[in-house]
Amino acid sequence: MDEKISKLKKIVSTSDKIVAFTGAGFSAESGISTFRGAGSLWSKYDSSIYADINYFIQEPSYYWNFFKDERYPVIKKAKPNDGHYALVELEKRGKLYRVITQNIDGLHQVAGQSDVIELHGNTRKILCTSCDKFYSMDEAYGRLKKELPPRCSCGAILKPSTVLFGEPLPQVALDMAALAAKNCDMFFVIGSSLVVYPAASMPRIAKKNEAVLVIVNIDPTPMDDMADIVIHESASKVLSELV
Ligand code: APR
Repeated sequence: MDEKISKLKKIVSTSDKIVAFTGAGFSAESGISTFRGAGSLWSKYDSSIYADINYFIQEPSYYWNFFKDERYPVIKKAKPNDGHYALVELEKRGKLYRVITQNIDGLHQVAGQSDVIELHGNTRKILCTSCDKFYSMDEAYGRLKKELPPRCSCGAILKPSTVLFGEPLPQVALDMAALAAKNCDMFFVIGSSLVVYPAASMPRIAKKNEAVLVIVNIDPTPMDDMADIVIHESASKVLSELV
């Protein structure tokens, strides 16, 4: 691990357009469950029922119960971890070009990161499915305690601005992420299983444009073979040592 960290330090010292690409493993140390791997959310909940747009349209109460029991309480009390602050430090040193995240917890922004591309939306923003009025996560939770599913003052059902399975990703975020992957000199994957597309196409775009690809992830990923450095370690440990 040590020689990999020193190789990583060397690459970071010679890069000045680093893109960090984070997944659920990055927030795991903030107490937020990952989706895959031991004890993960999708090993307990069927994502085709609890996080799929087609099911949500038919029966939104499944998603909202999942939000009430599993997401809101955990995200509400989650704090950024050392990994989040290490990325903010890299930005302060002028090393970080963009942060692309698949996470919906908003912790990069809470930690002070200024430029975050959220590919899968943000669960702190709840919107009306009809009049597009916005509610905070707390306001939606307040409404949820009174009625299931929670409704807007206009009467329509509320939905978090997170991207459910079967939904298109926000096009602007997707285009900005692809451009960042194309222009970076180092693409730094941290805490992602790299199995969900189109997000997982970003490391390939970066590699195709001669960026150095680094993967830090506890479990192996399908893109380990094409990476220049692979470290199967915890995100906060590696990032704290790096910074
Ligand atoms: N440090 C580094 N990696 C970790 C840590 C940690 N502390 N804890 C877990 N991991 C790794 C796991 O080994 C796993 O491979 O993080 C990865 C998390 O993978 P997923 O749970 O699949 O999360 P992610 O890649 O972000 O999923 C992508 O899938 O369900 C959808 O929309 C959801 O954005 C999510 C997308």
